[in-house]
Amino acid sequence: MVNRPPLPILLDVDTGIDDALALLYAHLSPELQLLGVTTCFGNGDLSITTRNTLSVLELAGSDAPVHPGAATPLADWSGAPAEAFHGQNGLGGAVIPDATRAPEIEPAAEYLVRMANERPGELTLVAVARLTNVAVALSLDPAFVRKLRGLYVMGGAAFVSGNVTAAAEANIWGDPEAAHKAFHAGGDITMVGLDVTHQALFTDDDLAGVDPRWPYAGLLREALEFYLRAYNPKIPKGARTAPLHDPLAVMLAETPDLARGDRYAVSVERAGTLTRGATVVDARPYSPEEKNVRVPLKLDVARFRRRFLSRLGWRLS
Ligand code: BDR
Ligand code: CA
Repeated sequence: MVNRPPLPILLDVDTGIDDALALLYAHLSPELQLLGVTTCFGNGDLSITTRNTLSVLELAGSDAPVHPGAATPLADWSGAPAEAFHGQNGLGGAVIPDATRAPEIEPAAEYLVRMANERPGELTLVAVARLTNVAVALSLDPAFVRKLRGLYVMGGAAFVSGNVTAAAEANIWGDPEAAHKAFHAGGDITMVGLDVTHQALFTDDDLAGVDPRWPYAGLLREALEFYLRAYNPKIPKGARTAPLHDPLAVMLAETPDLARGDRYAVSVERAGTLTRGATVVDARPYSPEEKNVRVPLKLDVARFRRRFLSRLGWRLS
């Protein structure tokens, strides 16, 4: 294996249970250098998602700076928070201490633009929340996304149903205007949508393997029990699975060949009454549209599982 320096990444989150796992993974992977984190509303109010982000990072031993961003979407605020899947406190009721440090003063979008300009072409942004912070960054610097090494978005559903509505996935549905701007910003963009995150499953057996000695064991046990219950209201304990959306986006930024896919022309529906927030993926063989986004579709599940579980501490046989 070739030794390469860790990939410098920025992470935009709305922490959130799977966001918490993405933060842990980004901090623990020796192949990644987590430079900073920006927060957005989504799985809770901005105050909740920022609080959770700081707390999870402190629990993991990370001192990556946390920059709060958008509290509302660019246009209308039509969405209820995601309490059914993340609980009232965003962590499925898991209680972890408040962080001893405060968030940074510099707002998320300004921080993102500053970092991209300080290190043009070097940084990968993994955005696993509404794309509002990315859109605001683009309004400050229209070349922002082109100055990144890559933008990985957890969001959208190319050839499968949505999860908030039949057509729309939560992160896109929560701010379709922002998502459309991000997908059309140029640069190297990858959409890690439900097509591939629904292959990245956490199981009841995995939950049973949480080691009480890990500093984040309590968080994992409580939050993931809630998450498995929320995704499987009718399936008995022991047979439940739940998608690891946000960690997979981080992992694909780290190791793009964990999944196979293609480039497509991708746009976001902003007007439809039934389809607002849908990602419209043009798979016509002779489409005249520019193929603006890479869309992973087929995950190497065995490799994904080995990597995810071992990075977080599971002992694998
Ligand atoms: C996405 O929506 C959020 O609730 C999750 O954290 C994830 O980013 C999945 O649709
Ligand atoms: Ca998220």
